[in-house]
Amino acid sequence: MTGPDGVAAQDAADLGALRDHVEAYLAEDDVLLGARARSAQLGCVPVGAGAGAGLRFLAAAIGARAVVEIGTGVGVSGLWLLRGMTADGVLTSIDVDPEHQRLARMSFTAAGHGPSRLRLINGMGLEVLPRLTDGAYDLVFVDAAPADHPRYLDEAVRLLRPGGIVALDGALTPSVVDQSAVDPGTLAAREVARQVREDDRLVPVLLPLGDGLLAAVKIG
Ligand SMILES: C[S@@+](CC[C@H](N)C(=O)[O-])C[C@H]1O[C@@H](n2cnc3c(N)ncnc32)[C@H](O)[C@@H]1O
Repeated sequence: MTGPDGVAAQDAADLGALRDHVEAYLAEDDVLLGARARSAQLGCVPVGAGAGAGLRFLAAAIGARAVVEIGTGVGVSGLWLLRGMTADGVLTSIDVDPEHQRLARMSFTAAGHGPSRLRLINGMGLEVLPRLTDGAYDLVFVDAAPADHPRYLDEAVRLLRPGGIVALDGALTPSVVDQSAVDPGTLAAREVARQVREDDRLVPVLLPLGDGLLAAVKIG
């Protein structure tokens, strides 16, 4: 292809191929693929394999033993997190939908993660989080309704120990770079990215995995 449009189309194709390569770099096993299929049946969108691998990496890097997740879904992100956590680690995962959590528990059990590793709490994230203990968690992962994500950030930072990590999915929804897009989810994605960047307690990074994984280490 020639001309500026041709170059742009080739760049987009290259980026798409690279993105596919990242997503396929680590193959998912039957348990993860089963959870992904059940998510699709319920219309629940799980993290991709790239973001899942990123979550497992972050959990393993800091030896995460206590993790909070907001948005259990059908358990795809939880499976990746559990595989990065220490063998005695406990995943506290919150979801407003009991059917999602019932199926997630099936996936966790199929993967060999027994009840001692799970605390599944049915409820609204903003109502449950205030009941959790300050500074008691190594990692907090946020993947619920995008418009609520800015409000989860302060709670997440409160829950983390120094050196703990907060990660939020959906930071690179395509509309984030379209300045004409002003729907609540897009505005919230921009807002939480700004909050994380400007918070002196956090060392941030925006990882182009899946829908965009915004992560930050809590210092001090
Ligand atoms: C994108 S899905 C989570 C997918 C999951 N993290 C995964 O990768 O498998 C979002 C989930 O958030 C839940 N949710 C939405 N609003 C919520 C809220 N206010 N409090 C708790 N959970 C909520 C939904 O029921 C849904 O299961």
